Amino acid sequence: MVDDRSRLPIGMFDSGVGGLTVARAVIDLLPHEDIIYLGDTQRCPYGPRPHDEVRRFALEIMDHLVSQGVKLLVIACNSAASAVFEEARQRYDVSVLSVIEPGVRAAIAATRNRRIGLIGTVATVTSGSYDQALAATKANMELVSQACPRFVEFVEHNETNSEAVFDAAEEYLAPLKAAGVDTVILGCTHYPLLSGVIQYVMGEEVVLISSAEATANEVFAELKNSDLLNRSEDIGKHRFIATSEEGMFSELGELLLGPAFSGIEYRPWSDRTKA
Ligand code: DGL
Repeated sequence: MVDDRSRLPIGMFDSGVGGLTVARAVIDLLPHEDIIYLGDTQRCPYGPRPHDEVRRFALEIMDHLVSQGVKLLVIACNSAASAVFEEARQRYDVSVLSVIEPGVRAAIAATRNRRIGLIGTVATVTSGSYDQALAATKANMELVSQACPRFVEFVEHNETNSEAVFDAAEEYLAPLKAAGVDTVILGCTHYPLLSGVIQYVMGEEVVLISSAEATANEVFAELKNSDLLNRSEDIGKHRFIATSEEGMFSELGELLLGPAFSGIEYRPWSDRTKA
């Protein structure tokens, strides 16, 4: 018996466009699912903000998504997941998935020398969330972490191959190269948009792990296991909400999602009761 809630959308969010890399992967794997995606562009970036503030923003967004009626929450933002994942799992009746654990598992499967690099925002790296997720697997691996504060800013401005991006990448990635990591987790959902530069600087033998595909696989498994797969033959409807018109959410959304990215809604927080 398929649960009636199977027709409800999946709720996803990020501080901005980064989580659209996860939405892209979810749409590829689950074309019949409806999605509500919220990009908190009004308050982006989250990475430099204190833990409590990111926690508050993330809970506010998830409360809002749950009030809209969703069957699953996906925290498509490492900074938010680092601040609030365990609390969110307790707080909501629906299942909550994060991008961190799937990324860690994919990295463990990929590494050959057991030395894994992690790049992310300051919020993610200082939280130790990846160290904890790796420790929980009991895999005996070394994790070398590096915050890359300017990367999100570059992506949000659609700047993905300028000399400034290469210079920043050389600087941020030097400690990972020196440590001899053979696998690097892109521990921020904005970073897949900088994969070209990151791969170039790290060298082609290093495996880059984007948690987008691994997270989409987990979304699929969670829906299947809880009888919540949408068996409709219709193509899923996708709502994309941004909390500010500033920035390049719409341009980057079209780049990532093509025709699937239509009808973007702008809902500043002051108006959110209208959402
Ligand atoms: N894309 C986000 C992450 O995965 C947030 C980036 C930011 O807002 O600083 O951490």
